[in-house]
Amino acid sequence: MSLSDVLTRIDTDLDAALDRLMALLRIPSISTDPAYKADCDRAADWLVADLASLGADVAKHPTPGHPMVMGTIGDGPRHFIFYGHYDVQPVDPLNLWHRDPFDPELQETPKGRVIRGRGAADDKGQLMTFVEACRAWIAVNGSLPCRITFFLEGEEESGSPSLIPFMQAHKAALKADLALICDTGLFDSRVPAITTMLRGLLGEELTITGPDKDLHSGMYGGAAMNPIRVLSRIIASLHDETGRITVPGFYDGVPELSNALRDQWEGLGFDAASFLGDVGLSVPAGEAGRTALEMIWSRPTCEVNGIWGGYTGEGFKTVLPSEAHAKISFRLVGDQDPLAIRESFRAMVRDMLPPDCSVTFKDHGASRAGQFDISDPSFEAARQALSDEWPDAAAYIGCGGSIPIAGHFQKIAGTTPMLIGFGKDDDLIHSPNEKYDLESFHKGIRSWARVLAALS
Ligand code: BES
Ligand code: ZN
Repeated sequence: MSLSDVLTRIDTDLDAALDRLMALLRIPSISTDPAYKADCDRAADWLVADLASLGADVAKHPTPGHPMVMGTIGDGPRHFIFYGHYDVQPVDPLNLWHRDPFDPELQETPKGRVIRGRGAADDKGQLMTFVEACRAWIAVNGSLPCRITFFLEGEEESGSPSLIPFMQAHKAALKADLALICDTGLFDSRVPAITTMLRGLLGEELTITGPDKDLHSGMYGGAAMNPIRVLSRIIASLHDETGRITVPGFYDGVPELSNALRDQWEGLGFDAASFLGDVGLSVPAGEAGRTALEMIWSRPTCEVNGIWGGYTGEGFKTVLPSEAHAKISFRLVGDQDPLAIRESFRAMVRDMLPPDCSVTFKDHGASRAGQFDISDPSFEAARQALSDEWPDAAAYIGCGGSIPIAGHFQKIAGTTPMLIGFGKDDDLIHSPNEKYDLESFHKGIRSWARVLAALS
């Protein structure tokens, strides 16, 4: 096997790799919107065809939602799963995009060349870094140095409703030496990373109902309770003046950061001022007495993701609405129990309801935080391989986002997840004008080639 020939092949094949990614990015595989069901299916077909072209034994597996793509290729004593997701977030607000989100292009920017388009970073560009590394490896050496099972999901951005039953049904195939997951970021543009901690996520939607119909706010205002007033009071009470979350029992299972981890994170030299400055902010808004990095990686949160009710169109309408709505998510850490928090949150809301108001809740998923064991020597081998590709040594980092499948690999198949990705904080994932740096794509492919060599 020759790693340096594989790396050269990756460099010379970069334009073709980019063309392939562009083709995948043109498919609007928005999983949460039923209008794009056929497109999700088309993205799965595209991946099946692409993996088949590598020689993989691959198939599209139907689920009650969008299909999974599973395939195997290669031989050797070591077996790795590779997971990525081919679905993307919705594009709205569309008017904030500078071009069609599904007409991707390579753009010159002051910070370098970027691949612009929905899914460029989350997660199609990342997913293809691994596929392209395999392609180059096979082109140079005839075969892979290990066995790979590809496991590509099309429902990650919509709560993965089919995932657990599918994983249970394919448990044996998902048992491997490691599950490689490419859906996370670099620490910064010089420092690659292996993510060892993810936050969990609890999603709740609530509807508060007051009067049984919309009313004239002059005729009824004062006598009738306005459900938006009730909702606002509830939302305002979820944090105290120090930024702590007030849901009873919420902090049960939240660990204090160990001194070892605190020291390691301090050594990373995270620049909170520029992290916030990049998005027009300057003051960390979480719990008093915590660093910004702690707030993101090791503290739980409660965020209102959406709030609506009454009249929000053009002009003005003196309505006293019947209903008020909010979508609220909690990021969880340590041993926090999402189901216990859901019950406690719902009880707290019910306790705050005045007479004549009622509430209904809708469940938007619940997953625990993950902390991954890095004692397997494969982690140090992978870290060294990443360090060889990037300017500075690779770091073990936390992540504020949630990737529930990482925990499922552990629990269902007993397979340790290893999270490596090449995204940057300014990739605008889930936002208008999402991009992936060409450098992330190129060095990402090269990184996987090195990691495969090191792990095999
Ligand atoms: N790729 C992200 C997770 C992520 C976010 C990694 C930020 C690194 C930095 C993933 O696709 C995602 O967005 N996950 C959702 C959770 C899911 C259950 C809807 C999230 O974190 O909100
Ligand atoms: Zn993702």
